[in-house]
Amino acid sequence: MILKHLNLINFKNILEGSIELDQGVNCFSGLNGEGKTNILDSIRYLSMCKSYFNSADYQNINHDHEAFMIKGEVMKNEELDVLSCSVSRSSKKVFKRNKKDYQKLSDHIGLYPSVMISPTDEDLIKEGSEIRRKFINGIIAQYDKSYLNHMTQYKRALNQRNRLLKHFQTERIFDSASLEIYDFKLIELNSIIFQIREKFVEDFIPWFQKLHIEISGNKESVSIQYNSSCGENLELQFKDSEQKDRISARTNVGIHKDDLEFSIDGHTIKKFGSQGQQKTFLIALKLAQSFFIEQATGNKPFLLLDDIFDKLDSNRVTNLMKLVSEGNFGQIFITDTDKNRVSSLFKGLDV
Ligand SMILES: Nc1ncnc2c1ncn2[C@@H]1O[C@H](COP(=O)(O)OP(=O)(O)O)[C@@H](O)[C@H]1O
Ligand SMILES: [Mg+2]
Repeated sequence: MILKHLNLINFKNILEGSIELDQGVNCFSGLNGEGKTNILDSIRYLSMCKSYFNSADYQNINHDHEAFMIKGEVMKNEELDVLSCSVSRSSKKVFKRNKKDYQKLSDHIGLYPSVMISPTDEDLIKEGSEIRRKFINGIIAQYDKSYLNHMTQYKRALNQRNRLLKHFQTERIFDSASLEIYDFKLIELNSIIFQIREKFVEDFIPWFQKLHIEISGNKESVSIQYNSSCGENLELQFKDSEQKDRISARTNVGIHKDDLEFSIDGHTIKKFGSQGQQKTFLIALKLAQSFFIEQATGNKPFLLLDDIFDKLDSNRVTNLMKLVSEGNFGQIFITDTDKNRVSSLFKGLDV
């Protein structure tokens, strides 16, 4: 899967741009604010139908214009596919593949996968558990279509149970039997989702650790632990939590409380990892994600590496560039403020 050509009109600060791309490594260098990250984000749009950074589409339209357009030509299975996305301030987003609209944008996800590594990923280490559950969900959803379905059913049942708890609270009543109707459904879904997540983490860890060793030069040992209470005795946990649920008017047991614990040399990385160690950890997570998506979709994702060199020491930078240029990853797009650094890094590597 090769992005051959990219055309941008009024996308953030890029008023008009047309770029021919190489099938190997593509580097974008320039000063701060010139639009390097925006180019990577436009590729992300073509892959996922949305920005990596702004959840509202209109925020990506150039401030002084009414609409943006991104067009890309992708060589895939020996055919040239034309992908285009346009967003205007006054109408809905239009996303086309070979001039045809999608009925559901979700049908596009997975066809032209991408993995972005960006400085904003540090939220995965620094923020609360929700972002780590999203990370898990985002990967599993790429290869297990039933997973999204289970998750949707779960969220619905959880909302209904929470609404009932709130109703009890406002009306100052409580009826255990009507709550149990939801417990039954939630226990079943908790158990299914737990098993899928547990299996995913088990399969993911060896990839992650192998990649981490290659980048860090085996300097530190890292681990990921899946923390969930849903592995056993769910009925009992729901019963035990009933009083707490009643007082707090929400459900305190379930996979919506799951988390991933990231450690370095046996200690939590958020507190004890240096900035460079945290960055290495995140890069290994994302590269492992790329392998997973490839297994699931049969396509090597576009690898979008934004400010990847920041905070890494020169050994790690060299290891990383060697790793990504060995051909195990898809087409690569890198941004850097220092033009000489990228070109000297790739000198000597066979790319
Ligand atoms: N909707 C928008 N309209 C115009 N400019 C924008 C918009 N969104 C972001 N920008 C501008 O894009 C620039 C940042 O581009 P970016 O790709 O992040 O730069 P860098 O080359 O440092 O990666 C900033 O100057 C920002 O003001
Ligand atoms: Mg940038």
